[in-house]
Amino acid sequence: MKLPELPAELTDFKPEVGLILGSGLGFFADDRIEVVGRLPYGEIEDFPVSTVPGHAGQFVYGHLDGKRVLCMQGRFHFYEGYTMAQLTLPIRLMAQLGVHTIFVTNAAGGINRDYVPGDFMLLSDHINFLGTNPLIGNQSNDDTRFPDMSEVYDGALRAKIRERAKTEGVDLKEGVYLATTGPSFETPAEIRAFATFGADAVGMSTVPEAIVARQLGIRVIGISCITNAAAGISKEPLSHEEVSETADRVRPQFADLLAGAVALA
Ligand code: HPA
Repeated sequence: MKLPELPAELTDFKPEVGLILGSGLGFFADDRIEVVGRLPYGEIEDFPVSTVPGHAGQFVYGHLDGKRVLCMQGRFHFYEGYTMAQLTLPIRLMAQLGVHTIFVTNAAGGINRDYVPGDFMLLSDHINFLGTNPLIGNQSNDDTRFPDMSEVYDGALRAKIRERAKTEGVDLKEGVYLATTGPSFETPAEIRAFATFGADAVGMSTVPEAIVARQLGIRVIGISCITNAAAGISKEPLSHEEVSETADRVRPQFADLLAGAVALA
């Protein structure tokens, strides 16, 4: 796959850690990174542009706790109409830039009845319910065609993150994330089915990026912000507004959790 050219300022910066900031979580780049530069997606040849409110659509790079990080402020979703290849292109660019670890964040609905809006969940694993796979059609010779997915989310780094959360008295959940295409929210019957599959949370992102990152040998950590109870678990109808409101409310806690996790990478 031919990758677009990136400006020398970014390639020379040599990012080590990639952060994908999900719905309502893009503020992290402005609040916590000592910014060195920004690169709007529109300035990259053939790069998709995010269409969701709350997704600014640029790379922000700089320092966080002594690490060189590259943030995606705004990510792409399958429901926006992009191909799997388009929406995982940033991961291939990160790999080319030398990123060794990515933190993929998202907003998700809680299926597990122990979860309440505002909780954070470390992804222990995922279920790809997208009906497709980002590696379909990939015939390049230097990529693995059948990559192992037995441990998508790095166990050793997760253990350190859990340990740190415990020390700091943060109630960090850990569970299985199931990805649907969206953009409609799920029905209560779907959520009951997903619960029997073993899913703890549901969302519309993350899995394509995680699969491609693993194919490329990048270490992955996933963090969900549980923004709402999934359909049928809460009596209220679901809305994008509720998702944004919850993400906004837990900003400081999310920022502490993510910054703390990155420091351990
Ligand atoms: N379902 C799917 N995606 C989501 C949800 C949900 O309940 N909340 C935030 N993203």
